[in-house]
Amino acid sequence: RWRSSLPQLDSVDRSDEDSSGGDIDWDNLGFGLTPTDYMYVMRCSQGDAGFSRGELSRYGNVELSPSSGVLNYGQGLFEGLKAYRRSSEMGGYTLFRPEENARRMQVGAERMCMPAPSVEQFVHAVKQTVLANRRWVPPQGKGALYIRPLLIGSGAILGLAPAPEYMFLIYAAPVGTYFKEGLAAINLLVEEEIHRAMPGGTGGVKTIANYAPVLKPQMDAKSKGFADVLYLDPVHKRYVEEASSCNLFVVKGGAVATPATAGTILPGITRKSIIELARDRGYQVEERLVSIDDLVSADEVFCTGTAVGVTPVSTVTYQGTRYEFRTGQDTLSRELYTDLTSIQMGLAEDKKGWTVAV
Ligand code: COI
Repeated sequence: RWRSSLPQLDSVDRSDEDSSGGDIDWDNLGFGLTPTDYMYVMRCSQGDAGFSRGELSRYGNVELSPSSGVLNYGQGLFEGLKAYRRSSEMGGYTLFRPEENARRMQVGAERMCMPAPSVEQFVHAVKQTVLANRRWVPPQGKGALYIRPLLIGSGAILGLAPAPEYMFLIYAAPVGTYFKEGLAAINLLVEEEIHRAMPGGTGGVKTIANYAPVLKPQMDAKSKGFADVLYLDPVHKRYVEEASSCNLFVVKGGAVATPATAGTILPGITRKSIIELARDRGYQVEERLVSIDDLVSADEVFCTGTAVGVTPVSTVTYQGTRYEFRTGQDTLSRELYTDLTSIQMGLAEDKKGWTVAV
């Protein structure tokens, strides 16, 4: 059985302290999947008080019933966070606000009728996954180890109902920049027909079910040279929501605005951190409705997310017209990118207590 063959962390080879993940070209990582050594698995069955102690196992395929809740009805959530290698003087690794991911998973689990790990279980599992895969954490400045926690209805079910068993799983992969543009500014297309989320739907939680439906507009936009799509609210088709993979900010003068998280917007942890960092810099930041007019008349536009970091937007195309924004040096997005990454990489003092050492 699964459990009996799982090695404990103590038996994981910890001798390899350096970045020596195979033949990786650390300068050209991108966001592709590089399989690593270990994954973390924890299970919970109907009637259990919660998830019991999880374990590391070799990274590999997972066995699922064809009738599992996740395969049939999409009962699943995911998370995304990163581990950064600290300077060689400091040693070790830094996680960025992992408790926030744990809490977001709990909120999503309630919406999707699933049990969730406690914050302590979640953070412990993330740390174990990082330590077991430490040789895959990129050298400082070259990227991060992307950590992907999953919570899925693994038990078999035929009628529409919550699955009788759940699996919490974490795997990890070394990543660099998300968009093929690297750190350069991206072009976005406003999508008018397809909507990402609706009031009363699941746009505000990180369910797997929010992501396959955006593949079609995303692929169409990519084929036209856009990096991603911006979605509009489905009721008025007037308010900007977010991109397929990240949140959105607009800057005009000294004011910054981002769509309020009122159920249809994913409450990004990078989003929340950037709001705070922009306020620290003296900007007025509003979480409110952001109309198409606000967007196209902005001085500066940028996207935020764990995967995308802080990515400047150079153009937005809406109804065939291309609107341009300020990018490069002396932009707020550049300043906030530096503020954020300095904390994440341990280059600046973490006055906010956002980082967790591993
Ligand atoms: C992340 O930013 O971590 C995400 O989950 C977005 C995903 C589409 C890569």
